[in-house]
Amino acid sequence: MKGNLEVGGEPGCCRVEEERAASKLSNCSIMAPTVVVFLLGLLSSAKSLPPPRTSFLLSSADRPLARFSVPGIHNTTTLLLSDDASTLYVGARDAVLSLDVSRSEVISIKRKVEWGPSDSETNSCKNKGKNPQVDCPNFVSVLLPINSTHLYACGSYAYSPHDAYIDAESFAMVQRDGAKGRCPFSPFQRNTAITIDGELFTATTTDFRGVEPQISRHFSKDGRPDVSQDSVSVLEEPVFVRSSFDPAERKLYFFFTEVGKEFNFLDKLQVSRVAQVCKDDVGGQRTLQKKWTSFAKAPLLCQSPRQLPFNILHDVFTLEPKENSDTSETLFYGVFTSQWSTRPESAVCVFKLQDIRTLFTESYRTFDLQHHQWNQQERHSYLGKCGLHNATDAELAEVKRTFLTSQSVKPVGMRPLVVSSNQRYTRVSAMRTKAADGKLYTVLFLLTESGFLHKGVLLNGGPHITEEIQVFTQPQQVKSLLLSSSKGVLYVGTAEGVTAVPVANCSAYRSCSQCVLARDPLCGWSPTRGTCTGVDSSPETLAQDLDNGNVEEKCPRQSRSRRDTEVSVNLNEAVRLQCVKPSNLANVTWTSPQFNSDQEKLFIQSADNSLSFLATDATLGLYRCEAEEGGYSEVVASYVVQERFSPRAKTPHHRDRPSGQDEPYEDIQTEEPVISVTPTAEPTDGPTEDRKHEQVSSDPDIFKHHSESKTSIQHIPFKTNVQSRMELPREAQVENSYYSHLIVVSLLLAICICILLLGGLYMWWPNKMCLKGKFAVSPEDGCKDNKSQETVPSLSSPDDAVPEVMVVEK
Ligand SMILES: *[C@@H]1O[C@H](CO)[C@@H](O)[C@H](O)[C@H]1NC(C)=O
Ligand SMILES: *[C@@H]1O[C@H](CO)[C@@H](O)[C@H](O)[C@H]1NC(C)=O
Ligand SMILES: *[C@@H]1O[C@H](CO)[C@@H](O)[C@H](O)[C@H]1NC(C)=O
Repeated sequence: MKGNLEVGGEPGCCRVEEERAASKLSNCSIMAPTVVVFLLGLLSSAKSLPPPRTSFLLSSADRPLARFSVPGIHNTTTLLLSDDASTLYVGARDAVLSLDVSRSEVISIKRKVEWGPSDSETNSCKNKGKNPQVDCPNFVSVLLPINSTHLYACGSYAYSPHDAYIDAESFAMVQRDGAKGRCPFSPFQRNTAITIDGELFTATTTDFRGVEPQISRHFSKDGRPDVSQDSVSVLEEPVFVRSSFDPAERKLYFFFTEVGKEFNFLDKLQVSRVAQVCKDDVGGQRTLQKKWTSFAKAPLLCQSPRQLPFNILHDVFTLEPKENSDTSETLFYGVFTSQWSTRPESAVCVFKLQDIRTLFTESYRTFDLQHHQWNQQERHSYLGKCGLHNATDAELAEVKRTFLTSQSVKPVGMRPLVVSSNQRYTRVSAMRTKAADGKLYTVLFLLTESGFLHKGVLLNGGPHITEEIQVFTQPQQVKSLLLSSSKGVLYVGTAEGVTAVPVANCSAYRSCSQCVLARDPLCGWSPTRGTCTGVDSSPETLAQDLDNGNVEEKCPRQSRSRRDTEVSVNLNEAVRLQCVKPSNLANVTWTSPQFNSDQEKLFIQSADNSLSFLATDATLGLYRCEAEEGGYSEVVASYVVQERFSPRAKTPHHRDRPSGQDEPYEDIQTEEPVISVTPTAEPTDGPTEDRKHEQVSSDPDIFKHHSESKTSIQHIPFKTNVQSRMELPREAQVENSYYSHLIVVSLLLAICICILLLGGLYMWWPNKMCLKGKFAVSPEDGCKDNKSQETVPSLSSPDDAVPEVMVVEK
């Protein structure tokens, strides 16, 4: 079969070959390496995930996290939660800790046991060519309950693995000798371990160089022997990821990525796998003595149709079946990247336990020792079965060379659940939650490389990322995620410490509209209390619309009218009005009667959505910032810009400016659009007004990122061109406050009429308005859906190709 794929000279036929090649790859066929080069382009075309709706930085008051980070305690990366969820055990560098996590707002240390190598052990590690600070401490990589009173721990211990029993209460430690095969020598090599009924099952490398992988059972009970795998060649440079126990079939599953030797590539082709062994395997009698007779492995396929597969597995989360369901409904959520990616991208695929079970009962490939290749299709009743201890030597000889299934495990739905074309997710957790409508939804937590946790919900229309939360600041090679869905907390362990992230903080959504638009199954709006609150803790039915986020339907009409913020300015002063976007998915539009001034005016809308302009006669007046999301619009800020009440203002105004005043913005009033925007003065309060002045809010941290670099400029006619111009008579406004109130009221009335008119126009003529949408990248872009998804930046997103500064002209 090798070499049967020749890429033809005609462009039309390449495509067919590529597609065929991609599907061949998934069928585990052998193909020519050259085809891979032609396939590279395929990966990029997958439909990607929308950006997170809201973003919270590490210190955000709206999304408080409990953090444990104390001097002298490092690399808190191995996490274990006690059964009552009140204690978090942590494997760290040269120490094991227990943390009190019974309170949600603070994590405190309960116990600590020092566990590091001696100076002479560190020296001998150093003499073997290892860095004494980086490689030679004891990095604990296994921490598991071994029985009702004790924990089992294993650490790299100066490149000489050691293990120990620790009393979970007193933290008294009993060291054991020789832990080879239970955890890796290198602190940077991944491993996985699981304890069942006091027996320890591990998947790790077992040598100093880290090249001899092994899956084995230790501390075997009832006098049965410890069992390991037959030879190192049943695994090919594996990176172990996770393990899981199927109690119904008494089988263990190990998830990992390895080199796929069944593919004849020149390059090392990585393949994700699941391997099985039987918990009670005791090996064969003559053949396969003390070796697994039940070891078998299968490829895990995570691939979009006609794309190259996401072939590198990074993490697996086991989601138990819902209540009263069979264990065969257990789901495995895997997060994958691709060997061929040239940019950050990743995918989540979900596999069903039943599919894995079935696959291991079907046909296998056989390794042909003479020709060094895998042959197709062997089917024997005993392959993949438990209890082969008394099998014949011939049967066990067959088992020895037949351990790779013919087919791959396909994901539920035959395609990835989530594909992100700009995030490299490397850890995943999942929980089921009952939403306000009583239906169950799956919420995914995905950790990005850049330190953000993305919370996504799987909706009918596809995945929706409700929020991103920064949980660490530096890229981490070793990190872990531990979810307690009963407690509603996710623990993140990194070199920086342990962070507890509540699965939701509904009160961050301050209005019914924001609560509903969040489309978070954990949060709903309580009409009686007037707050956004947790669905599980609420006795009443909460307003929630996960699939559509329909605010009009779910929220009572807002009667509370928004108070305009007054901004007093000097004439010819630069004014900047802030508008904080309520969500990354919202499109922000400024409206003002002033935009229709027949004089040449420049209004500049920055990337942070603030509106800047020069205060002149014609630019004083009312400004509103409106946010539109999912077809729903609301005013998020409104300002009345008026002249500062000062002696100078009382004198009749002339177009020429007072002398002696520095006027850097003089040149703005030209025909040319302004390209660079210099920092603007913040409007300040007027001294003697009887109405309350509100200080214009300063940049919240979150949006600073966007405003720092202003890269490109767009000139787009302003949406509100249709509005009529309303000039305030100046003298009257300054000298007669009664009159000015009247003006403001009539102005508001006029605005209302305008908005109504506009709304009518908008509905009547949707396409035209859409093209006028300010953030459209190009005119041929579709309407809102597309637009908002493609151009909204998120903090963790590495490439924001958004036009960031916009000049709004008359
Ligand atoms: C748990 O294991 C430890 C270490 O082997 C042992 O000392 C202890 O007695 C065991 N406890 C129970 C309840 O079996
Ligand atoms: C193997 O056969 C012996 C004798 O027939 C039996 O006692 C033993 O339980 C069998 N072992 C297994 C693992 O089935
Ligand atoms: C331990 O933490 C340091 C930072 O404090 C980090 O550079 C290093 O990579 C970590 N080592 C491991 C094995 O996690």
